[in-house]
Amino acid sequence: MLRSHTCGELRVSNVGQTVTISGWVQGVRDKGSLLWIDLRDRYGITQITIETDKASKELVDIARTLGREFVVSVTGKVTERYSKSDKIETGDIEIYPDKIFVLNAAITPPFTIEDETDGGDDIRMKYRYLDLRRNPVRKNIELRHRMAIETRNFLDKLNFLEVETPVLIKSTPEGARDFVVPSRMNPGEFYALPQSPQTFKQLLMVGGFDRYYQIVKCFRDEDLRADRQPEFTQIDCEMAFVEQEDVLNTFEGLVRHLFKAVKNIDIPTLTRMTYADAMKFYGNDKPDIRFEMKFVELKSPLEGGVRRTEDVDLVSGKDFKVFDDAGLVVGICAKGAAEYTRKQMDELTEFVKRPQIGATGLIYARYNADGTIKSSVDKFYNEEELKKWVVAFNAQPGDLMMLIAGEENKARKALSELRLEMGTRLGLRDKNKFACHWVIDFPMLEYNAEENRYFAMHHPFTSPKPEDIHLLNSNPGAVRANAYDMVINGVEIGGGSIRIHNKPLQSQIFDLLGFTKEEAQAQFGFLMSAFEFGAPPHGGLAFGFDRLCSLFGGSESIRDFIAFPKNNSGRDVMIDSPSPIAQAQLDELMINVKK
Ligand code: AMO
Repeated sequence: MLRSHTCGELRVSNVGQTVTISGWVQGVRDKGSLLWIDLRDRYGITQITIETDKASKELVDIARTLGREFVVSVTGKVTERYSKSDKIETGDIEIYPDKIFVLNAAITPPFTIEDETDGGDDIRMKYRYLDLRRNPVRKNIELRHRMAIETRNFLDKLNFLEVETPVLIKSTPEGARDFVVPSRMNPGEFYALPQSPQTFKQLLMVGGFDRYYQIVKCFRDEDLRADRQPEFTQIDCEMAFVEQEDVLNTFEGLVRHLFKAVKNIDIPTLTRMTYADAMKFYGNDKPDIRFEMKFVELKSPLEGGVRRTEDVDLVSGKDFKVFDDAGLVVGICAKGAAEYTRKQMDELTEFVKRPQIGATGLIYARYNADGTIKSSVDKFYNEEELKKWVVAFNAQPGDLMMLIAGEENKARKALSELRLEMGTRLGLRDKNKFACHWVIDFPMLEYNAEENRYFAMHHPFTSPKPEDIHLLNSNPGAVRANAYDMVINGVEIGGGSIRIHNKPLQSQIFDLLGFTKEEAQAQFGFLMSAFEFGAPPHGGLAFGFDRLCSLFGGSESIRDFIAFPKNNSGRDVMIDSPSPIAQAQLDELMINVKK
């Protein structure tokens, strides 16, 4: 062994022992008569001290050749420090070395290997192996490891079996594009990398495995964001002989276990919200419920063009065209924000008008601390009318009412973004606070006007709610699914469903989704055949493991929790991939690349 101890473990109790430690040189300070080397490994830093006039010339000469990130092994005596440091855990001791071996020299790293580094994103990604030496990155990867272990412990105790499913498969329609792999032995044919092991886990249920899980890589060729990578990891799970309630309880248990075991946080029983309420009150199917700020409608949308008695309209008929023309006028009440300056309001107006948010403008009314109400539409609404807004919002003096008007879905989406922005501005989105809940009763299908057909909102294997099955032909858009998402702090952490387990219903759904009988047979014949051989009722879900880790680690970017991530263009800049392949390889695969 090139070490008897790590760089993080020596204490006063080791004083007097001769030890060997190995690691990387964090830094050398040479004061002439005294020379210090900080030696670092995964476990910590230990100070090596050399009294240059007492130590051998050979030792001093070696010490003076050391540079940052040299790999060295030091043997010497552990001594109690005269001036102790509380900055590092080994701060009570130092080592007086007898021998220093340079195990490997190092050129100067392109950025400092410190907690706060001077390296930008790109350079750190190019030299990711150096970035991994930094404490914050290492801690993230350690957290990921702990989460995986605790997941396995929990599921193992509940009789879940970890089963590996293949990576070279056939396309499964999960909504994103597939990454494909050409098959040399079957020219012109391709495997697809799994977007998830969905069909395989269902087949495991047919195979009698009963409770399955897998911490598994999934691949999706989609546009990347902070919480999306082209290859990412799921905790993928499936159970047989269950109903939705059983799945929700089991996996709520897993998440609560992880919070307790990894962060020592007790998470209360998860609340549940229907998809319809999530959209109505938060404009979003993954609402951040760390804070309230629910939507309030001042002009409800008409359903089927009819105004029902329960619909509100506090704004039409006052010559304000924006509200008169709007399908929906909806707002939020920002507590204590009545004193926002004109500049802040202009900023927020610009914010909602950004193309990705898409509102045409922002209307607001300040309910001032002195009880007066001042709105940006005073020309159209008098104090008495504005008071009705106050009542609708249940606003208190000092609050700011902010309204967005427009087509229903667009207005909700824009207000949802504004709500999150206000939550951030008002300090209501503390990353150390966790609000976990389920969103349930998702619609089964989503209509796509461009393609003039329905798409499965979750995936085509999701079961409709039995009580809605009769609507499948007459009003497919109204059919709710036994599908659910787990949302934590506004992030979709996981999602799943109860599956269809009989052939006629599965075949009816494929039909609704626009598959011909032949297409359905060609793509999913294997699954429908399996359903004929005694498929148990089953359901499950998958968590986004990277997202779960980044949430636990308090970061918005999942990249920080992946040892070797890809950048936003899907490139691994360290190994420079993707990259062209040799013509001979292309020929062998019978691929004709046009340049
Ligand atoms: P779904 O597509 O909802 O469901 O994926 C499950 C979870 O995986 C995470 N996730 C991602 N994480 C990082 N990068 C990505 N590109 C990415 N895409 C998804 C999300 C999401 O909630 N087979 C079904 C599950 C089931 O029905 O059991 C599935 O894959 O956190």
